Amino acid sequence: MAADTFSFENHPALERPKVTAREPMHPGYTETYGEVKPAAELDLATLDVVDPEVWRQGKFWDRLERLRKEDPVHFTPDSFVGPYWSVTLYEDIMAVDTDHKRFSSSWEYGGITLGPPLEDFEMPMFIAMDEPRHSEQRKTVQPAVAPNMLKDYEPLIRTRTRAVLDGLPVGEPFDWVDRVSIELTGMMLATLFDFPQERRRELTRWSDIATNMHNPDICPGGEAQWKQEMMGCLTTFMGMFQERGASENKGDLISLLAHGEKTRNMTPMELLGNVILLIVGGNDTSRNTMSASVYALNKYPDQYAKLKADPELIPNMVSETIRWQTPLSFMRRTALEDVTIRGKTIKKGEQVAMWYVSGNRDTTFWENPEDYDIERKNARQHLSFGFGVHRCVGNRLAELQLKILWEELMARYDHIEVLAEPSFTSGAFVRGYTWMPVVLHPK
Ligand code: HEM
Repeated sequence: MAADTFSFENHPALERPKVTAREPMHPGYTETYGEVKPAAELDLATLDVVDPEVWRQGKFWDRLERLRKEDPVHFTPDSFVGPYWSVTLYEDIMAVDTDHKRFSSSWEYGGITLGPPLEDFEMPMFIAMDEPRHSEQRKTVQPAVAPNMLKDYEPLIRTRTRAVLDGLPVGEPFDWVDRVSIELTGMMLATLFDFPQERRRELTRWSDIATNMHNPDICPGGEAQWKQEMMGCLTTFMGMFQERGASENKGDLISLLAHGEKTRNMTPMELLGNVILLIVGGNDTSRNTMSASVYALNKYPDQYAKLKADPELIPNMVSETIRWQTPLSFMRRTALEDVTIRGKTIKKGEQVAMWYVSGNRDTTFWENPEDYDIERKNARQHLSFGFGVHRCVGNRLAELQLKILWEELMARYDHIEVLAEPSFTSGAFVRGYTWMPVVLHPK
């Protein structure tokens, strides 16, 4: 029997974490930390999507929708990341993502996030490399997430998931993000790296720091603190890299890099880059999908009821959640030559954001894309893992983690209830949750 509604007045778990007030990232962002204007009131010629505050407040949807309708290949002349193009339709995103000969991912131009590269802190990583170097390094780490490894991991993921779920309070509010999403992804990452489990929150910290240099809630010391913490990460992993290189290859990500023909002689900054890639790749994305699944099923109770009636729907629910959430909103590319799309010429050297989050809402591809529909037939055709040579190497692992989480959750509890609107990450790149109070209802 499901418990009836609980009452939790003044419960500390319901206290929303404060957000530090901060200066707008750009003089043009006059609305920052105040009212974010609706897209309809903005001048299309200068319309900008990357203001971090717009993302924290969840008010980017109408901007992307306006671009899809009125200017699907759009140039923003001025923003805190400089001038950039936005590609917003499904078909065009696919075209750019699969055209790696004309659109580069390389770190030399700024890699896969918008803005110029940090001049004195170059961190090459294979997601931000072009062929042939990209594929050589990708192949080195791929065995850690290959289908046979996933088979081996499955019982371990299940045992850990059970332990985390069994340790949760029932009928008592708690923060899902911290107690479950961060815990489970941290454990998984520690396993992939063969990193001490008791130190797994260090991995979470490096992941948070890596994408939040300008966020005073995470990195109040700005660039100087960011570099210092990144160097701390390098020191830790350099030690492990050398140790594992000198012993037998155990198949974890660090051993694979330390023994790989194309990676064993990496420079320290390249090691750091690849470690950060694997930490962020394996952490933020899965973590935010775990939170998104709970949030979406609460927003769409009819879908939750369907799932409870038929747990066979879990795998498709996972894909639909990844589409609906789009944990990485975009990837950046740099044009290697002039390219014309829909009559607009992107000039050589210009940066382009492929807005996956927009392609996943494109009505020219999806039927009712705004709806969260766990029976959506083509859910797995979402853009959230990217396409082409850089398509997410961990996509099957992420799906497996999510599937196990929901199988175990449904086996234990009648349902999980979200008690307040969650708080969201600020910034346009990682689309996620910082806090989401929930309560578990017993069966
Ligand atoms: C729902 C979860 C996930 C999402 C949405 C996601 C999304 C993405 C995206 C959008 C890309 C870039 C594609 C491109 O540039 O075309 C990518 C690449 C990558 N992801 Fe994931 N990811 C997820 C989970 C994971 C996990 C669990 C791992 C850990 C092993 C991982 C590791 C990577 C790596 C290493 C790359 C670089 C691949 C390359 O450049 O060849 N990801 N991911």
